[in-house]
Amino acid sequence: MIAKSRRGRERLGAFSIMSMSLEDIPGVVEIENLSFPTPWSESSFRYELQENPYASLFVARTRELTTVIAFACLWIVDQEVKINNIAVHPVYRARGVGTRFLRFLIDHAASQGCREVTLEVRPSNQAALSLYRKAGFVPIGRRKQYYTDTHEDAIVMWLRVEPRAAP
Ligand SMILES: CC(C)(COP(=O)(O)OP(=O)(O)OC[C@H]1O[C@@H](n2cnc3c(N)ncnc32)[C@H](O)[C@@H]1OP(=O)(O)O)[C@@H](O)C(=O)NCCC(=O)NCCS
Repeated sequence: MIAKSRRGRERLGAFSIMSMSLEDIPGVVEIENLSFPTPWSESSFRYELQENPYASLFVARTRELTTVIAFACLWIVDQEVKINNIAVHPVYRARGVGTRFLRFLIDHAASQGCREVTLEVRPSNQAALSLYRKAGFVPIGRRKQYYTDTHEDAIVMWLRVEPRAAP
């Protein structure tokens, strides 16, 4: 039997998650542009990859490793992880990729000795809110008119993690 997500789409089988490299940037920017009203530029990703010592960036690729299907950018400061952005290519959404990718990021946080993960999300982003709630995130606050493009508030969400390594 083929596993289906609750949204009725076939779950994607195996895929690989790895650190982002410079060659991934075009695929990542494509997903970014398809996902966010105010997307990060190619140079922003280049900066995060090459110069920001607090940044960790990951991509998910198809099993054949040919196509970038999702990416995430984290900042790790002290024992806290901030998820800056996570996005799945529209073609691969609602097939369980976001859930498994987020699980990987939480596991990565624990392996880095982190105790908490935070992120901001738009109240209108039902898919993301649902993804985060299912992963155990809880809302802990609101930043007023945080998004300068739509003037929407941001919901701040938080997850406690059990660190697996010394910081
Ligand atoms: C949010 C996002 C990363 C989810 O990735 P995904 O691969 O589609 O997620 P999954 O298939 O693992 O689905 C996880 C849960 O999210 C919810 N969900 C997914 N798509 C949804 C949709 N279109 N509407 C409402 N809920 C949805 C469901 O609760 C789903 O669980 P289910 O399969 O048991 O029903 C993806 O929609 C995306 O890239 N969105 C654009 C970028 C973005 O908004 N990122 C978050 C910024 S805070």
